Amino acid sequence: MKVLIAGGAGFLGSTVASACLDAGITPVILDNLSTGRIEFTQDRIFYPGDIADGPLLDKIFSDHPDIAAVVHMAAMIVVPDSVAHPLRYYRENVARTVDFVDHVIRNGCPRFLFSSSAAIYRPGDDLAVDENSALDPQSPYARTKVMVEELLADCTVAYDLKVLSLRYFNPIGADPLLRSGLQLPRPTHLLGKLLTAVDEDEEFRLTGVDWPTRDGSAIRDFIHVWDLAEAHVAALLRFDEVFPAGQSYQVINLATGNGTTVKEFVAAFQAASDKPLRLREAPPRPGDNTGCFSRSDRARELLGWQTRFSVLEGIKDSIRWAAIRRDRLGA
Ligand SMILES: NC(=O)c1ccc[n+]([C@@H]2O[C@H](COP(=O)([O-])OP(=O)(O)OC[C@H]3O[C@@H](n4cnc5c(N)ncnc54)[C@H](O)[C@@H]3O)[C@@H](O)[C@H]2O)c1
Repeated sequence: MKVLIAGGAGFLGSTVASACLDAGITPVILDNLSTGRIEFTQDRIFYPGDIADGPLLDKIFSDHPDIAAVVHMAAMIVVPDSVAHPLRYYRENVARTVDFVDHVIRNGCPRFLFSSSAAIYRPGDDLAVDENSALDPQSPYARTKVMVEELLADCTVAYDLKVLSLRYFNPIGADPLLRSGLQLPRPTHLLGKLLTAVDEDEEFRLTGVDWPTRDGSAIRDFIHVWDLAEAHVAALLRFDEVFPAGQSYQVINLATGNGTTVKEFVAAFQAASDKPLRLREAPPRPGDNTGCFSRSDRARELLGWQTRFSVLEGIKDSIRWAAIRRDRLGA
């Protein structure tokens, strides 16, 4: 089986591509390298270019008529950046996806997996969510995910297309074989900021300490990227079986089912790292929210998949990758 992975040179896309290769599925990667890395495409079928480029998509499908499914992971993903530059996010994540889906449908590929996000949920009082929980995206980034989910659901009614939206919670870690990991030198998410703080002896700002959680810090459901990648393999292998009778659109949370607060995560990081951390509490950043964790069993029931790695293992794999990242990718 071949699968087209849009965004397959990125952090998560390259890991999904590795898991596909390990499972005997051939990834065909399409990526404009806006944040992705060419090093992550080495020895893989790779087309540099944009998801909205119709002639390029036609060429990819003509070169690989045996592509059985598309995984759409190409997006801009930085929440505060989306608050500052909303039009850029709506253009890159929504408008280009409209064209991309059009090209995929025109080329007759009926299976589409979409990288969605837990950032779209409105958590209840217990901060747990499942796929039927209310949506309340708090940032332009999160709103692009809702818009794309909705446009994809509409397409499944009108066209010969089945769509599975996978709502990722908070990915951490790296490929355990270290083929790829987070590519950015100064990542803006929690674990990236912790790594930067200890590496460069910077103060770590623990942003948001008045949320309604057990210790006041935000809550997350941290999932190891390798668990996430293996879920994609399971979703590709079981794709045709995951839809309710008569329906062509489905949503599945990819999460551990365990909430970890930011303070608990920082404590785990300090246990895993041998370097001292200077920490200061600070107000939330624009677009931040309390967060949530998943209480859903749908992934286990429909995909026969469950997570295998702990938060500590994810942190340790991130630290191992960070130690070799510069050698692998340069600056
Ligand atoms: N990392 C997370 O915490 C997280 C959480 C939930 C959902 N997601 C989703 O997972 C997907 C992958 O995220 P990631 O963390 O790997 O980010 P990333 O930035 O590492 O990967 C995105 C990839 O898409 C490529 N890309 C962007 N726009 C493109 C375009 N128009 N045409 C072709 N390629 C394009 C980039 O070059 C990059 O390689 C995204 O859709 C993101 O919204 C990520």
